[in-house]
Amino acid sequence: MPNFDQQPPAGGGAPTPQGRGGAPGGAPPAGGRGAAPAGGAAPQGRGAAPPAPPSALALKYPWPAKPVLLGTRVKRIDGPDKVTGRAKYTHDINRPGMLYGRIIRSPLPHARIVSIDLSAALKAPGVKAAYNVKEPGAQVMYQGDTVAAVAADTEERTKDAARLVKVEYEALPHFANEEQAMDPDAPVVFMGGNTRPGTAQDVGDIEAGFKQSAHIIEATYYTHVITHVCLESHSIVAEWEGDKLTAWCSTQGVFPSQQGLAMGLGIPAANVRVITQYMGGGFGSKLQAGAEAVIGAKLSQMAKLPVKLTLDRKEEHLDTGNRPSAGAKVKAGVTADGTLTSYQADSWGTGGAGQGVGNLPIPYIYTFPNRKRTHKDVYINSGTQRPMRAPGHPQACFLTEVLMDELADRVKMDPVEFRIKNAPVQVPSAMYRTYLPEGAKLFGWDKRHATGDPTPGPIKTGFGVSVHTWGGGGSGTQAHCDIMADGTVVMKCGTQDIGTGTRTIVALVTAETLGLPITAVRAEIGDTNYPRSGGSGGSTTAPSAMPAIRLTAAKALEALFVKVAPTLGVSADTLVATNGRIHVKDDPTKGVTWKDACKTLGADTISVDHMWEAGLSSVNSSGAQFTEVAVDIETGIVKVKRILAIQDCGLVVDRLTCESQIYGGVISSMNFALYEDRILDRVTGQMVNPNMEMYLLAGMSDIPKIDIILKDMPERGVVGVGEPPTVSLSAAIANAVRNATGAAIRSLPLHPHKILAAIEQQKAGGTL
Ligand code: MOS
Repeated sequence: MPNFDQQPPAGGGAPTPQGRGGAPGGAPPAGGRGAAPAGGAAPQGRGAAPPAPPSALALKYPWPAKPVLLGTRVKRIDGPDKVTGRAKYTHDINRPGMLYGRIIRSPLPHARIVSIDLSAALKAPGVKAAYNVKEPGAQVMYQGDTVAAVAADTEERTKDAARLVKVEYEALPHFANEEQAMDPDAPVVFMGGNTRPGTAQDVGDIEAGFKQSAHIIEATYYTHVITHVCLESHSIVAEWEGDKLTAWCSTQGVFPSQQGLAMGLGIPAANVRVITQYMGGGFGSKLQAGAEAVIGAKLSQMAKLPVKLTLDRKEEHLDTGNRPSAGAKVKAGVTADGTLTSYQADSWGTGGAGQGVGNLPIPYIYTFPNRKRTHKDVYINSGTQRPMRAPGHPQACFLTEVLMDELADRVKMDPVEFRIKNAPVQVPSAMYRTYLPEGAKLFGWDKRHATGDPTPGPIKTGFGVSVHTWGGGGSGTQAHCDIMADGTVVMKCGTQDIGTGTRTIVALVTAETLGLPITAVRAEIGDTNYPRSGGSGGSTTAPSAMPAIRLTAAKALEALFVKVAPTLGVSADTLVATNGRIHVKDDPTKGVTWKDACKTLGADTISVDHMWEAGLSSVNSSGAQFTEVAVDIETGIVKVKRILAIQDCGLVVDRLTCESQIYGGVISSMNFALYEDRILDRVTGQMVNPNMEMYLLAGMSDIPKIDIILKDMPERGVVGVGEPPTVSLSAAIANAVRNATGAAIRSLPLHPHKILAAIEQQKAGGTL
């Protein structure tokens, strides 16, 4: 059952890492989670624990002041493998005698399983295994919930056999949306009640704040449910050798998946090896072994043959997680000079048949001195949520940033100026007071018109802005470096490249530290046979892995110096490695080539283990995003014309992969605002668009020019940048649409019918 009780208290700093709660090994390092001030109490950075002081080794090997590779534009070392198809994703793995697995899933949103009859399926051609995932008497809680599983020798025969599984259901009452579940007359569908309270919050004197206010806005804001839509669907290839399992998994965490598979199968973790060489997107839905991974491994165990189990698009939408909805009925006040006073919110959200968005970090970023909040998670009969890109932040950002524009309008202040006035105290991880004016200047914000484009004709343009924050700190990763007598360098680390470029930056930092070209280094990652690293979640991968790689490489180099020093007649501590040579620091002529240095190893190999230490990474980042949109008020269609993203991320490891994180993040936020929508039929509870035809994503022609201003802060060390840029564009787009049309836009997605309805409402007297 859901685990709502284990949520952190409101005001505790971190938004709930939903779904990570009771999940085995799924949690990324705690320090890396978003550290936005829940309730706006503390400026960004102050709420988080102070960073640990640098370790002695980190002080000895700080990031280089004059790097050769760090911060440059290094192309992905596996780019050619990817574009030629040599790179093998999980679904590309084929094993001798391999079967194909398939899950039989509930077509109903809520039912009791009366009976499951596998006999016909078991007799079908090619079938080697079938079993009940749930037993008769058990309940299925959503469309797509797992019921049984089958494996046969071809995909077609597996599908045929799956159709032969006879399941009898007794339909039970269900909820397709929050309103149905919150109805006081609704039946109790979920054990423990259909809603679960979050922690209430009451800070300051809310009524006194409203008394001081010149303007008060009372309105309801809402963000919808979307799914992760990884281009590579969830997949496992499982193969047993005796009691040992090898699992090629599409996962964001080989070690968390190892633990999850071990738990799910009831075997020791030491008997499970998980391999993930290439991954086509996870976004939080692949942080741990899902039900499909355990089922694939079980089918393989039963059949004593390897099994491939890859989910189809419909299964992806129904049962691999979603971003929970979040709504808030808000009352907020502002003084005549634009100072925020009181913020009152009753929020809710649904993550399906389990825990929802939890205590949202609202109001987001800005400080209202007086705050009063309640929250409830609402359970409905849909697939359960999983963390999705900065969990809680995109929702909290929208609920707050749209309100901020409305408040700015009330006091007739420019939205940028209004934000600067109310932004938190400036610290390196919260640079809003710098980024907002700088972005406004670069964007040509002075050309923004007041709310409502006066231009005649149906096309109205508008500007919008929004700001965001996220954690993205590091800890704990281990690594192993081998330097061989022939000069070969291998860096091994059990982190994984989830499409972000991790393999490239592992090689980059190794090469930088050893004074070698990146091509001279082999990065081996994505395997539980390598030293332990956490899951790639919470934007923690680079800040966890890069310090580990740097220090492990440095320790290996020290060992090589000890071997080389006597041949040069110097002491080891006078040596440095640059430009493919090892030489005396103050006398570059006194040295040897890397190859010759390694020859001193003879029959030896330098083989060093080390791990992350504090001092080369830090936590929290800030950013601001600006956009210009064109709205056709006759069709309701929004076209994003241009985007400017300002983002800091500490030390830039590889400028190219860093920027590509920001492009991807911005586009995903645009998808959240304009396209994606998980639609459940309100009567049947069935998802009506479980595909990629009616579930919309931006196409190339929808994506405008995206300008990125990357703020280098090398002195802060590495900070994760994956999630922060995914947070705020959706709110900026909504603000731009409102600026264009003059109509209140308070809920996502901004589909044409909603834009048209908002314009009609505004014409009829408006809501402002
Ligand atoms: Mo992310 S939601 O931590 O993959």
